[in-house]
Amino acid sequence: MQRKPPELSALAGQRALQAMWRDHSLLAALRVFHAELGDCFRIKAPGFTPVMLVGPEAARFVLVTSRNDLRWRNASDPVTRVLQHGILVEDGALHDQLRQTMTPALHKRVLGSYVAAMIRGVDTITADWHGHATRDMLIEMRRIALLIIFEALFNHDFTPDIDTIWPSLLRTLSFISPGLWMLWRDMPRPGYAKHLQRMDAYLYRMIEQYRERHGLSPTASSESVSDLLGMLIAAGLSDSAIRDQLLTMLIAGHDTSTASLTWTLYLLGAHPAAMSRARAEVDAVIGHGAPQLEHAAQLTYLDQVIKESLRLYPPIHLSSRTAAQDLDFKGMLIPAGTRVLFSIYLTQRDPHYWTAPDRFDPDRFSPELSANRPAYTYLPFGGGPRNCIGFAFAELELKLVLARLLQRFDMAVKQPDIRVHMGATLEPRPGLKCQATQRHASVTVNVVPGEP
Ligand code: HEM
Repeated sequence: MQRKPPELSALAGQRALQAMWRDHSLLAALRVFHAELGDCFRIKAPGFTPVMLVGPEAARFVLVTSRNDLRWRNASDPVTRVLQHGILVEDGALHDQLRQTMTPALHKRVLGSYVAAMIRGVDTITADWHGHATRDMLIEMRRIALLIIFEALFNHDFTPDIDTIWPSLLRTLSFISPGLWMLWRDMPRPGYAKHLQRMDAYLYRMIEQYRERHGLSPTASSESVSDLLGMLIAAGLSDSAIRDQLLTMLIAGHDTSTASLTWTLYLLGAHPAAMSRARAEVDAVIGHGAPQLEHAAQLTYLDQVIKESLRLYPPIHLSSRTAAQDLDFKGMLIPAGTRVLFSIYLTQRDPHYWTAPDRFDPDRFSPELSANRPAYTYLPFGGGPRNCIGFAFAELELKLVLARLLQRFDMAVKQPDIRVHMGATLEPRPGLKCQATQRHASVTVNVVPGEP
């Protein structure tokens, strides 16, 4: 006999509210739910009653064993409205075909060709960091991540347009972020349409310019192109299907890196010993030259720092699906049509699998300790066949951007009070003020697009 997943008692509900009030974050309330109810529970809000799953068994269930009975696409979500037929909101054969088309642009073997764009992104945005420049790193990391994704994947220099498109991009992100619309599906949402249209117009113009520049017809051989936009054109997709993939990759590929870079700078700022060790490693491995692909594998401590930052603050903290049919998780019934949420955040802070889970401790990711970690307890890039397609790209980008920053600047965090905000990704709010002081005048910088 199947049971219903448990829900919170009134008393525990009060504790959850108190935790939320104390930490200014819904995540704190979810931790109370998890501690009280275990790895499968129902959340009851007016108009929104998802089942939340946590832990390695649930991860395997959602990402592997029941994945074909769980749909990614939910027609009533703003994210589907914006991304339309983007890979992130498609299922079945169309998804698989898109994934096959785009994978070559993000495969490990082509990553070397993106290194110059990654370093140039940092050097271009930091070109006006003189003296003791104090900047909001949430903004600066977004600017860096945007230049990188446009140049590396779309072969497009976004530098001249960044300020013009910025407001529309932020509005698009806010449109898809969690909000009141989750409880009131038909709520009017004024003030977005013109920004969504501007994003579309920009992407369509970029596709047109690409075709003109490269003379690519829809029937061109895919071997003649190496960037993602060229591959989509060569695969014969319509302009509107290409627009959907570009917007998907633009959002999924830069908002996540933005959050992760900013959280890592925050954690390094709060832990001076880790900052010194990471900087010493960068100096020893890279010296004063430009970071290269082969340096990435040698930056082992920085790698541990990034992994620990992705554990504490996974930019994508939830996987969201809809049950296509009745499902059974450990004797509990999840009826067809239920929204199923798997919490990466709670899993990565679960005291069953992580000692002192809230402590920043990059040494957890030393080779010795990593070897003993149970499977499906660390999932910042998801898992199973539909894990993050940009996983290898993101790992390289995070490492090279941080290495370049640490190589060139002393970074001092000037913003002690940070709260975790659930936007399209988990973001530090109100931002991260940091003072950047140039370290060596002799490091050669590169801000000219087109020159590695
Ligand atoms: C720190 C950086 C990143 C993090 C933490 C991250 C995290 C994730 C996670 C957790 C998923 C799976 C979501 C789920 O199961 O519901 C995912 C999927 C995805 N990610 Fe990433 N991601 C990152 C960077 C990127 C980049 C750089 C790109 C593209 C250039 C990208 C594109 C995608 C796409 C398209 C999917 C959906 C894949 C599919 O449905 O087949 N991500 N990402």
